[in-house]
Amino acid sequence: MAGIAAKTGHQNVAMLGIGAYRPRRLVSNDEICDVLDSSDEWIYERSGIRNRRWISGDENARTMAAEAARRAIANSGIPPEKIGALILATNSWKTKIPHGGPIVAYDIGLNGIPAYDVAAGCGGFGYGLGIAADTVRAGSAEYVLLVGVETMSVVMEPTDRSTAFIFGDGAGAVVVGPSEENGISPTVWGSDGENAEAIGQNLDIPEYMDRAERMQHLDPETDPVGRMYVTMEGSKVFRWAAITLPKALSSVLETSGLAADDIEVFVPHQANARINELMKKNLGLADEIPMANDIENTGNTSAASIPLAMEEMLATGKAKGGQTALLLGFGAGLSYAGAVVTLPPAPGRTSFDDLG
Ligand code: COA
Repeated sequence: MAGIAAKTGHQNVAMLGIGAYRPRRLVSNDEICDVLDSSDEWIYERSGIRNRRWISGDENARTMAAEAARRAIANSGIPPEKIGALILATNSWKTKIPHGGPIVAYDIGLNGIPAYDVAAGCGGFGYGLGIAADTVRAGSAEYVLLVGVETMSVVMEPTDRSTAFIFGDGAGAVVVGPSEENGISPTVWGSDGENAEAIGQNLDIPEYMDRAERMQHLDPETDPVGRMYVTMEGSKVFRWAAITLPKALSSVLETSGLAADDIEVFVPHQANARINELMKKNLGLADEIPMANDIENTGNTSAASIPLAMEEMLATGKAKGGQTALLLGFGAGLSYAGAVVTLPPAPGRTSFDDLG
């Protein structure tokens, strides 16, 4: 009897190009405080956030994801028809059915490729990067497009003091594919469902809406689906982060075969500048090692935060393509995922000629 065919791909993989889309509208802390009982000083001191971007006009998750994806493909120099799969990391895509991946693939002219969503909270990009790298390594696709997109402003309660000032909107994307040198370490990932409720939503739709009740809520004004928003026990998440993330970071370094001294850039999830400063210090990274601080003017864009933060550092010259970076995503689940990577070329470049 003939054996079942198997295939393998390229063991050395890397992020070959990056693209981002930031909404046009900048929303200051002062504007947030028009309806939120808080202040610019409190928000900046506790979170490091001054502004965030929210969608307006014709912008939505679909348009942002497609634009970030197009930019990443163009910046990678890979012909679009060579993209063999699309992974959409998102928590705020407006429907579960249909999921967003196939729609984004269609919008960018790649209808037909395997395309699906990954929901892993703010760790979603880290999960997606691991899956993308392993997909190339296994030979299931040669080039994978990974897009993180969120419209957190839509799933947020503007008067909720624990979340309203934190979240922003945006999209970031990378193309993952074969590379001469390996540029993505094995992923270190994990979850803690025991504390799942620390970041959740105010309404659990299936439990809340039995069929009879649902029939009463068909008016969009009173339909609870329309009023779903994210909830967070901030200090619980902070404590979880303080215990879990240092271990995760050590494990990422160990798994990558590198030491803290080898890390040239630190790109943690942009949830809170204070958490990030603490992680950097605990890791023993030198002061002069650049750390992403996109949160200051972009807010926490959940699954889009790491590609947006990488793109900001590359576009402004704070980091250079080809440098070795430590990435760590974390959030709802609770969950986390990290890896050591080689940064892709800065936007607008298709090689590491910016490394100088
Ligand atoms: N504005 C002003 N005051 C506020 C406030 C707000 N938005 N929210 C809470 N407060 C007050 C509280 O009432 C409390 O006052 P008290 O000391 O008089 O009782 C005080 O500030 C401290 O509240 P606390 O909830 O302990 O705040 P915090 O220092 O933990 O900061 C976060 C809140 C959300 C910034 C912080 O907990 C955090 O960033 N957590 C982690 C979030 C995260 O990483 N999420 C994962 C990804 S989504």
